[in-house]
Amino acid sequence: RRLEKFVDELPDMPRLRGYGVTEGGALVAGNLTIGMYDTTWKFHRDLPATRVFAYGASREAATVPGPTIEAMRGVPTHVTWANHLPASHFLPWDPTLATAAAAGARGVPTVVHLHGGVQHSSSDGHSLAWFTAGLAATGPRFSRPPYAYPNRQPPGNLWYHDHAMGLTRVNILAGLMGAYRVVSPGEEAPLNLPSGEAFDRNLVLFDRDFRADGALFMNRTGNNPDVHPQWQPEYFGSVVVVNGKAWPYLRVRRRRYRFRILNASNARFFRLSLSGGLRFVHVGSDSFLVAPSEIADVVVDFAESSAGAAVLSNDAPAPYPGDPGDKAEPVAVMKFLIEDAATEPDTSAVPASLMPHYPRPDAREAAATRRITMYEYTKNGTDEPTHLYLNARSYMEPVTETPREGTSEVWEVINLTDDNHPLHVHLALFAVLEQRSLRRVDEFRDCMVRRNDAGACGMGRHLAGGRRHVVPPQERGWKNVFKVRPSAVTRILVRFKPLASDDASPEEDSRFPFDVTTGPGYVYHCHILDHEDNEMMRPMKIVR
Ligand code: C2O
Ligand code: CU
Repeated sequence: RRLEKFVDELPDMPRLRGYGVTEGGALVAGNLTIGMYDTTWKFHRDLPATRVFAYGASREAATVPGPTIEAMRGVPTHVTWANHLPASHFLPWDPTLATAAAAGARGVPTVVHLHGGVQHSSSDGHSLAWFTAGLAATGPRFSRPPYAYPNRQPPGNLWYHDHAMGLTRVNILAGLMGAYRVVSPGEEAPLNLPSGEAFDRNLVLFDRDFRADGALFMNRTGNNPDVHPQWQPEYFGSVVVVNGKAWPYLRVRRRRYRFRILNASNARFFRLSLSGGLRFVHVGSDSFLVAPSEIADVVVDFAESSAGAAVLSNDAPAPYPGDPGDKAEPVAVMKFLIEDAATEPDTSAVPASLMPHYPRPDAREAAATRRITMYEYTKNGTDEPTHLYLNARSYMEPVTETPREGTSEVWEVINLTDDNHPLHVHLALFAVLEQRSLRRVDEFRDCMVRRNDAGACGMGRHLAGGRRHVVPPQERGWKNVFKVRPSAVTRILVRFKPLASDDASPEEDSRFPFDVTTGPGYVYHCHILDHEDNEMMRPMKIVR
């Protein structure tokens, strides 16, 4: 049975304030308790309620995605993440993945990462800092709650999601994700962007498959079952869900809206466009591509269309092959019903530039150059992957990336696989310097698989004359995720120092506002959830 599209209205997730206000009007740190609950959620009018794991201030308030947390720049938010999940998972997971096995049989291991947050590593949701209900079992890097988010970073869009090693793909699939905003009214109000709950909306996108009884569907058999009985290299679903509803609709006025669009899928990329000639302003183009965990902050002016509706659709192939020219048949994501009643004028605007004084990426300031190589291993004689590694090392091997606080480094990310991998670095921000294809990549790969030494394998030779790929303008800023193209080398400049940690300070600081060298440390990884769970992740330790 096919589900009818555009029959459920787009919900707004509950909002939680991450700060307190005293009687005198002063802003003070906020204390939240957010639970993870075993509950149900209606994804579609005609689909029975679906069992989910969901975040909420209470069981009754738990939603998929979870509540949107609104934090104030410079005001800390403390969150006690409480695991109320049952003894076992309702989705299949794979006990042969390196670290999930360590959880033993009791409880569902979870840990929460605030993606894009600049926080001490004991609050960063290290993938080995997991815990089960009642803290009955804890991972080797566990830290006691609550987590502290200083929010001493520029305003913007973050998200929180599960990060338990070997279980991230099933915990997020089950519903454990939500949006988080850092706001700064003093800095943002003068920009006059569309604002207020009605006109400034989060859109959290993901794909799922459902069984007729409403249950989430995930394949129980691995692609290489004798190696990993359940693990599959990528989860793709045929239903597109926005804010927890399959193919929803939203009634909009004929005016500007701000949309903060997050791709919370396991593996699906979205290349989004609107029908009726409508554009995404900010990005300044008619479509854009968001990989898993990427967030696009766009303005759409529905007054530019005279039509009564506009469909948002996706034409990115799955799996995403990496050549931006590749397109699939467009599939609908959601529909906007454009209403005419122009009661009050739209006084919002799109400013020519957003936040001033971000430092420009300058490779000359790099204190070191590192090479990060992406490998996919297959079973002999097949092209079915068994696992993925960074730098030919398992996640559990000792740390090798030890950048110095206050410096920047050039990372040459060498992608020897056939897929595009969205690389995410915790704590740091990075800018893309250049992307260039490797020539005779098979020869280079053969050598690298044996030696893992780009110099000895003649990387320079293989890059000479390689095609240079243009980085789209909206992806040239400071990011925490970037799509690393296959058979190419992507050079990024990674900053191990914050952008200005408060709005009163000059444009950059060399020290983080907390001790980055202590605690369980940080990680970097591919953000295809099925890849990060199968070891496309490495630890990172910041030193002084
Ligand atoms: Cu969005 Cu390490 O994760
Ligand atoms: Cu990947």
